Parts: sequence; structure tokens; C-alpha cells
Amino acid sequence: MPFTVADAERARIDFPALLRQHEGQPLAFLDGPGGTQVPQAVLDAMTDGYHRCNVNAGGAFASSREVGLEVEAARAAMADFLGAESPSCISFGANMTSFNFALARAFARRFKAGDEVLITRLDHEANRGPWQTLAAHGVLVKEVAITSAGSLDMEDFRAKLTPRVKLVATTLASNALGTVPEIAEIRALTRAVGAWLVCDAVHYAAHFPVDVQAIDCEFLLCSAYKFHGPHIGVLYAKPGLLDELETDRLRAQYSTAPHRIETGTPNHPALMGVRAAVDYLAGLSPGGSRRERLRNTMQGLAAYEHTLAQRYLAGLATLPAITVWGPGAEVTRAPTVSVTIDGITAADAAAQIAGRGIQVWHGHFYAMAVLESLQLVDRGGLLRTGVSLYNTPTEIDRLLEALSTLKR
Ligand SMILES: Cc1ncc(COP(=O)(O)O)c(C=O)c1O
Repeated sequence: MPFTVADAERARIDFPALLRQHEGQPLAFLDGPGGTQVPQAVLDAMTDGYHRCNVNAGGAFASSREVGLEVEAARAAMADFLGAESPSCISFGANMTSFNFALARAFARRFKAGDEVLITRLDHEANRGPWQTLAAHGVLVKEVAITSAGSLDMEDFRAKLTPRVKLVATTLASNALGTVPEIAEIRALTRAVGAWLVCDAVHYAAHFPVDVQAIDCEFLLCSAYKFHGPHIGVLYAKPGLLDELETDRLRAQYSTAPHRIETGTPNHPALMGVRAAVDYLAGLSPGGSRRERLRNTMQGLAAYEHTLAQRYLAGLATLPAITVWGPGAEVTRAPTVSVTIDGITAADAAAQIAGRGIQVWHGHFYAMAVLESLQLVDRGGLLRTGVSLYNTPTEIDRLLEALSTLKR
């Protein structure tokens, strides 16, 4: 079902943060890749958690039973969001980065010296640093290069994917450039050498429907604050796989999936917020199961956000002294567009734009290998614009106007 400008305008009413003004103008939140705003329904669910069942799960009393049910409801919601086989494929943690470090520690106990791991230079450090720690255990960690156009260099990928590679960690979408790698090809190649596939869907899941069974990855990670939920990391593990890993666990901890990698007391109200965020997205489409409604919503959003990115790219093409990094609008890409501007750093540009009530990010966004590969570190990084369901063409035009009047 298409998502239109009128739908975005309607949805804006649901987000209290969008009422904020800057010098009489509504704040334009074009900073979604760094984190999105939450609808009132998420705030209400979290408040309900603190009112009604702010206790530990597993007790014999009513509020404990209720919070246990809420946690299971959050797993079921995320299973629908990701297309998982069952809610027990879904684990919750503090954030994606902590989860990936926990996964890497578990793999350190499994891999032997001489085993190889392949990571990419397109990835956020959260899907690189944890795997690089395996080098201390004798694992050879190799990196796939990116091209000057900001795509994964698939020739380099094929050359480095030897039968010794036991695990490949790749992003599904670059948070710096919007690049979307060919995941079906990557899966086919990794399957041929028997390597496990770990996907970073933190950026992707905010903009596209995810289907873990279609991707056929072993693990996939995302973060609810990128799709209108609170700060909670989500790990999908293919049925049975988590139980094969020697995770960090206390001796009394449940030792089976999904608990096997969940340490400490969860942030229960935030998990209730995750469920509410998924239900909010599902509620933007009528009819069908929650999974079907989510797929429809995310398909509609992908198309709508792409038109915003197209509008931005077309406007940028008319401005002098601006270089767009990463893919153009003619390919499948996330609607995240990064630029450099001759004669002004990204930080200065972001500050001037902020003065006009428009929020965009600048810098490296932890996609440091991308910036190093494109030799953008010395230039002070990128100016990054992202769009979410509540952004409108008017906001894109405001940004283009602000860019056209930057003071050098
Ligand atoms: C693509 C990507 N991967 C991983 C992360 C890290 O996620 P978290 O903040 O949940 O650790 C981010 C955060 O910006 C990201 O954009």
C-alpha cells in the first residue's frame, strides 16, 4: 500500500517531539539514521510498564506474571517485524554493539587458530570491532574493500572468501552512504564455503521490510531506536544456533535460546515500548496479520522515503560545490544521503543548518572505514541527511534552501 505525503502529515501528529519549534519554525528531524523520534503509543506503553508491572519476571505474583507476558509479547512483535520462525529466535539486549561483542566472545570459544572471518569496510564499527577482537585468538580477520562509488567490492569479496572463512559479517545497508549490498549474492557465496552469515540490519530495518528467512542468515542484529522504539538491541538467531554457542552466562541463568545470550535484568518498560513501536508501524496498514501489515507498511515507507531521497538528490544536483557520496537514486538504496561541500566542513555546515531549525548529522557516524576508504577523514567527514516516516518534501526543500545559502 502506498504511503503518501498526506500519510506522513497525519503520522506527524502521533509524535510529540515534532511539536518542538526553533525560532517559530517546526524542528525538522532529518537525523533519523542516528535515532528516530517515538510516537505517543510507545511513550504510553513504557509508562504503563512503570505503572503496572515494574518488577522482575518469573515470580508467583500478578505483576511479575504480567511483565513475563509483556516480554513474550515483545519477542512475538519482533519476530513478526523480522519474519522470524518463532518468538524464541529473538533475544533482547542493551544495544546492537553490546550484542555483537557478546556474539564475538562466544565465537572466540568456538573458532580455532587459522580460522578466518570476513568483515567489510562498508560496515559501522559495531559490526567490525567485535569481530576484530578474534585476531587475539589466532583468527585471521580479513576486510572486503569498497569501491570509489561506495559499493562493496564483490571481486574482492570473492577473492577473500576462502573455505577457511567460517563467518562473514556484513551490513544490509550503510548508515553513511545508504548503499544496499547484494545480500542474495553474498548468501549464495557464503553458503558455498559453509560460512555463517551475520547481518547488521540496524540501518536497513528502519527503511525496508526484513525477512530473515528469505535472507537465510544465521544471525541478524538491529536496534529499536532506529524505528521509533526505545534504545533496545535485538538479536535474531536461526532456530537452534544460539544453543550451539558458548555465551557468557551466570550459572543460574536460563541456558536455552532466547535467554542464552541475555545477561542481567532486562529493561522491561523499554521492551513494552519495542512492542508498541512494532504495533505502531503495523497499524499504519489496514487488514491482514501483523506480519502482513508490517510488510505492507515497510514497503510503502521504502517507496515514500526513496521519493524524498530522490527529491534531495535532484536538488543537490542544482547546487554548486556539493559532492554526493554513495549510490544514486537509480538503484535500491537506503534514503540516507551524505555530501561534502567545498569550502566548508560538515560540522560548520551542520551548525549553520541547525540555526534554521534543521537537524542533520555530520562526521563519521562510526562508519570510519567508509570515510578512510573514500579519503574523507581529513575533510572532516560527511554531512548526512536521513528521512523517516514523519519527514516531508517541505522539510527537504527547507534543507536545500539552507544548503544554498551556507556562509563559507
Ligand atoms: C549500521 C549501524 N550498525 C550498528 C549500529 C550500532 O547500534 P547500537 O547503537 O544499537 O549499538 C549503528 C548505530 O548507529 C548503525 O547505524
